[in-house]
Amino acid sequence: MSSTLLISCLLLAPYLCSGQWCYESQNTCDDKCKGPRQWVSDFPACGGQRQSPINIITRKVQYDPSLTPIMFEGYTEVMNITVTNVGYAAAFSLPRSVRISGGGLPGKYKALQFHLHWGSDCGPGSEHTVDGEQYPMEVHIVHIKEEYSTLKEAMNDSVGVAALGFFFEVSPRENKQLNKIIDALGRVRYNGNSTDIRGFQLGDLLISLENFSGYYRYAGSLTTPSCDEAIIWTLFKQPIPVSQDQLNIIIRQMLFSTGKPMIDIFRPVLNLNGRTVYTSHACPCVLLSLITLLLCLIFVFELI
Ligand SMILES: *[C@@H]1O[C@H](CO)[C@@H](O)[C@H](O)[C@H]1NC(C)=O
Ligand SMILES: *[C@@H]1O[C@H](CO)[C@@H](O)[C@H](O)[C@H]1NC(C)=O
Ligand SMILES: *[C@@H]1O[C@H](CO)[C@@H](O)[C@H](O)[C@H]1NC(C)=O
Ligand SMILES: *[C@@H]1O[C@H](CO)[C@@H](O)[C@H](O)[C@H]1NC(C)=O
Ligand SMILES: [Zn+2]
Repeated sequence: MSSTLLISCLLLAPYLCSGQWCYESQNTCDDKCKGPRQWVSDFPACGGQRQSPINIITRKVQYDPSLTPIMFEGYTEVMNITVTNVGYAAAFSLPRSVRISGGGLPGKYKALQFHLHWGSDCGPGSEHTVDGEQYPMEVHIVHIKEEYSTLKEAMNDSVGVAALGFFFEVSPRENKQLNKIIDALGRVRYNGNSTDIRGFQLGDLLISLENFSGYYRYAGSLTTPSCDEAIIWTLFKQPIPVSQDQLNIIIRQMLFSTGKPMIDIFRPVLNLNGRTVYTSHACPCVLLSLITLLLCLIFVFELI
């Protein structure tokens, strides 16, 4: 058990186990832990110039034709995975046979784990925001360059880690594909608890997405201490549906290492500091040309 915890700590944030950092929501009168604004005092990289998450301003993103669709390997493979409550999140381990390439990435990357960021009851919970909008939840799938064997090694390379981010959006209908994950979160209520999910497919999480070709790309960092600036971020435009009931269950099941409810587990957005966010799509061209066509038609009919 403790070795699983240690490995998870190492995976999620190499120096986590030595520092006392916390999220904003944990910083209360009776618990003076170090919230996001104070992370920098123990983890200097958190004060860097290419930190994550960020707010994406869609009218400022730049089209990059090299951002072709990501190639997913092993995403439909059936596997047994382990979920661990690491004290500030639930980490889902992934086998290295899950890989991504293409999409303008400099090489192949193999998966390590995925985890979720969420808020509190009916509140926002994503880390990245789009035009100031914060989604209720965001999943991060973390991959490292194939030639590295640990996250620590990959962190030494400014493009060593490739993280995929997917937003969740409240839908009136339940997303049944998520239930295996939701049930598993209920079995890891306390810090250090871990459980297996049998017969899991990463595709289950993403099956409701029809179209992976629309995404944003920028150079950033880990969003938890030690905030290493080694991550190529890919944020998909199409959100994953989840019902409000499902979100409520997710948010209420787990506890932080302090024993308080694990809510609002996201880092607030940071400055772009001159970075460019790229997009795989030139512009909503189809929509624009439709509007133009419509306007032309109206114009023509009014002339007649
Ligand atoms: C998953 O675990 C079950 C039960 O322990 C085992 O029978 C099965 O072979 C495992 N599947 C994989 C893909 O490892
Ligand atoms: C990090 O990179 C430096 C220079 O390339 C190298 O000397 C060092 O061994 C690397 N550290 C790790 C942990 O890979
Ligand atoms: C979960 O962790 C708690 C507190 O450490 C422990 O008492 C409990 O037995 C654990 N449960 C499982 C299923 O490991
Ligand atoms: C995916 O969506 C984009 C717009 O977001 C569209 O241009 C593209 O044709 C779609 N691709 C497929 C395969 O549906
Ligand atoms: Zn994350």
